[in-house]
Amino acid sequence: MLRGRLIITGVSSGIGKALAEASLEAGYEVLGVGRRSCDAIESHARGQFFQADLTDPKALEAIPLLPAASGPTILINNAGTIGPIASTAEVEHEEMAYCMHLNVVAPMRLTARFLQEIEGEKQVYFTGSGAANYPIEGWAAYCASKAAVHQYAEVVAKEHPGVRIHAFRPGKVDTPMQAVIRESSSTAFADKSHFVEAFEQGELVQPQFVAQKLLKVFVSKTEIPVIFSTSNV
Ligand SMILES: NC(=O)c1ccc[n+]([C@@H]2O[C@H](COP(=O)([O-])OP(=O)(O)OC[C@H]3O[C@@H](n4cnc5c(N)ncnc54)[C@H](OP(=O)(O)O)[C@@H]3O)[C@@H](O)[C@H]2O)c1
Repeated sequence: MLRGRLIITGVSSGIGKALAEASLEAGYEVLGVGRRSCDAIESHARGQFFQADLTDPKALEAIPLLPAASGPTILINNAGTIGPIASTAEVEHEEMAYCMHLNVVAPMRLTARFLQEIEGEKQVYFTGSGAANYPIEGWAAYCASKAAVHQYAEVVAKEHPGVRIHAFRPGKVDTPMQAVIRESSSTAFADKSHFVEAFEQGELVQPQFVAQKLLKVFVSKTEIPVIFSTSNV
């Protein structure tokens, strides 16, 4: 039987791809949204892909938000960018604005549409980050964007007590975004060596681990905080 329907942004790699694969395997329907799809969605009868650059307001409005035929409809606002890694005074305005648009404005608009348009049982998740609470030199846009997402989730959860709304902190996950972090210039990024060391010592979490934790949360009846770490559930 159909377990429900997931609408996941950013399914071409990393956490979104692992979640699309795991949820198709677990019996959910998946609508992937992003610039590129993934094999699991393309090859599965319950998989669907809608191409959209989430920084394009017209594309955001065109995403088909349809409810699950049975079970919950679940929105996963996952697509994101690390944004410019540079000293704040040197950051290009366009790069900063792009980061805020993709990481903050797009999930806010998609969530508003989802809450208006989807009837029945629904859940909303945001891929948050420890960077929301931990200042990292050179990452001003990213840290600010994830702090905004956490606080947005807190407010929306308060406004909609009947809807499960959460932002999850996945830890350091072995995805292309971590590769971008390791390959960035260390001039403005004092903590870079910690990220390189964590990778070299095998400390990164695999995206499949995050996906399995989320699948547990979707069906769990246990109360958890609005902002939670996937390693704690
Ligand atoms: N990896 C970590 O350690 C970590 C830690 C905390 C939080 N996160 C968060 O986890 C989320 C997923 O990141 P990831 O680590 O899995 O990295 P990733 O593999 O780089 O995934 C990013 C996803 O976002 C999509 N995307 C990027 N720009 C887009 C755009 N303009 N329009 C639509 N989709 C776009 C990418 O797909 P296309 O390029 O095909 O569009 C890709 O599927 C992000 O929100 C990130 O901030 C990651």
